[in-house]
Amino acid sequence: MNKDELSGLIQEAVLIAQKEGKLPCFDIPEIPINYSEKKEFGDYNTPIAFSIAKQINQEPESIAKIIVDCLLAGRGAESAETKDGFVNFHFPDREWQDSLNIVLEQGKEYGSSRKGKGKTMVIDYSAPNIAKPFGVGHLRSTIIGQAIYNLYKFSGWRCIGDNHLGDWGTQFGKLIVAIKKWNKKPLKELSVSDLQALYVQFHHAAETQTELVEESREWFKKLEQGDKEARGIWEICVKTSIKEFARIYDILGIKIDKALGESFYENKMEAVIGRARRMGIAQESQGALVIMLAGMSVPLMLLKSDGATTYETRDLATIEYRTRKWKPNLIVYEVGADQKLHFEKVFKAAEMLGLKKDVEFKHIAHGLIRWEDRKFSTRKGDTIALEEVLDEARKRAENIILQSKENQSIVSAEKEKIARVVGIGAVKYNDLSRQPERDIVFNLDRMVTLEGNSCPYLQYTAVRCQSVLDRAGTAKIKPGTKETILNQEEKLIVRLLRIFPEIVERAAESFSPNLICNFIFELAQKYNIFYEKHQILKADSQEEKSFRLALTAGTRQVLENGLKLLGIEIPEKM
Ligand code: ARG
Repeated sequence: MNKDELSGLIQEAVLIAQKEGKLPCFDIPEIPINYSEKKEFGDYNTPIAFSIAKQINQEPESIAKIIVDCLLAGRGAESAETKDGFVNFHFPDREWQDSLNIVLEQGKEYGSSRKGKGKTMVIDYSAPNIAKPFGVGHLRSTIIGQAIYNLYKFSGWRCIGDNHLGDWGTQFGKLIVAIKKWNKKPLKELSVSDLQALYVQFHHAAETQTELVEESREWFKKLEQGDKEARGIWEICVKTSIKEFARIYDILGIKIDKALGESFYENKMEAVIGRARRMGIAQESQGALVIMLAGMSVPLMLLKSDGATTYETRDLATIEYRTRKWKPNLIVYEVGADQKLHFEKVFKAAEMLGLKKDVEFKHIAHGLIRWEDRKFSTRKGDTIALEEVLDEARKRAENIILQSKENQSIVSAEKEKIARVVGIGAVKYNDLSRQPERDIVFNLDRMVTLEGNSCPYLQYTAVRCQSVLDRAGTAKIKPGTKETILNQEEKLIVRLLRIFPEIVERAAESFSPNLICNFIFELAQKYNIFYEKHQILKADSQEEKSFRLALTAGTRQVLENGLKLLGIEIPEKM
């Protein structure tokens, strides 16, 4: 029985109660069905009596009791009861075993749905900036963005991932000035860190030589006007950086569908500006062209006083393009919280421009990654290059996991691969297991530990399940058929397996991959408790053994499906 069926049953019970005069007439509100965290609230429960109580001014307890009486009298649930005004359902063991069978039948597809059928979402994520290193900030966007993409795809949506590269804007004027003034290398040999250093040098120099800023403006203007020299330098910067980013995406195992960077909109901004003028919502202000936004103290700037376009203009052109091209129902921006105001302005202006028809915008404003005592800062060079982080995580993973005696037989090529999968997994999980909005303090030790809510712990549990299955040696695990009563540990695991699809749905709806993390962590814990306490291969009966193997296979499957949504692999050994 699923949630919809349960809420159907309640609705029926309420209707019967109304017909029999036990409840007065009222419009039946939506009936939420919740998974019970606590045993005394059954397997599922609903707080429906509380909302009815408000409508008809009666005690929730008495309403819940009437509903339960009608439920039990009708074709109702096998067992329903009330507690503290809640209506609780208990499922028979058979029902739980059926759920386990479903997990095994659906395998890799378990947890997926057709909920998003016919709907399209565009997700804007990663978006590093040309000529700057790919820092831990963009790492967050990349990892969370990819997980959200995966969640929506798994829920049946058509998804388009778009890497809105920072490859246009006034910073290129600064970079060109710096290159022309201070660079001694052939342009083609410039690395991303050279470019970064030149950019930092520009900022230092501009503190005293104010004319540099003016010069950089001129150069950006030239770039926008198609000046050959400016274009040439810009192109080399873009190429160098993109090559660098590609290497990082490769390490992370991430592939983004499109990479329509800011420069792609260069020839599409004119149309948006024209539209704003025609609609009479663009106005001159101190030489610049702006859109005033109701209720906001700062306007959106379409053109600066020197005629240069802005990041904001490009985002408006991007919305125009995306809505026209893909007709999405949802556009998600996985970008740091420091751009909150930017997106508020852009969304508001898009609405005024009539670009927000039948489409929702969502900015997932992820928190910062910072040091214990200070922020990361690219401008001052106080940041960890992503690759250093990944390398370090790999090394530590190798130390922690591969020191144990049972792993002595693993050959070194295998070791390296395991360390990579565990190291990268730890870095990703570190980002995904917190609420996106919260800041994260950077702590490598915590990331690669085998204890508590960490990726290595989950991977280890999945490997443990697999090794039980390997030792059992049965080619195909048969679904559970245990006729005896499930013990407490078994029941807790099956309960969790059963609600996985709901967790996927909730995680997608609330843009919270951390719900998947919490869930698979709980599952791994419950499985390990079961594993310590009960025999699997040496179970008392054949029937019990095959049920426990099925339980192990189901756990392994859900861990795998959950980790896959997070973009995390499971090593073969550990
Ligand atoms: N490149 C920008 C930055 O690093 C992020 C771009 C986000 N996406 C967007 N459509 N504005 O700050």
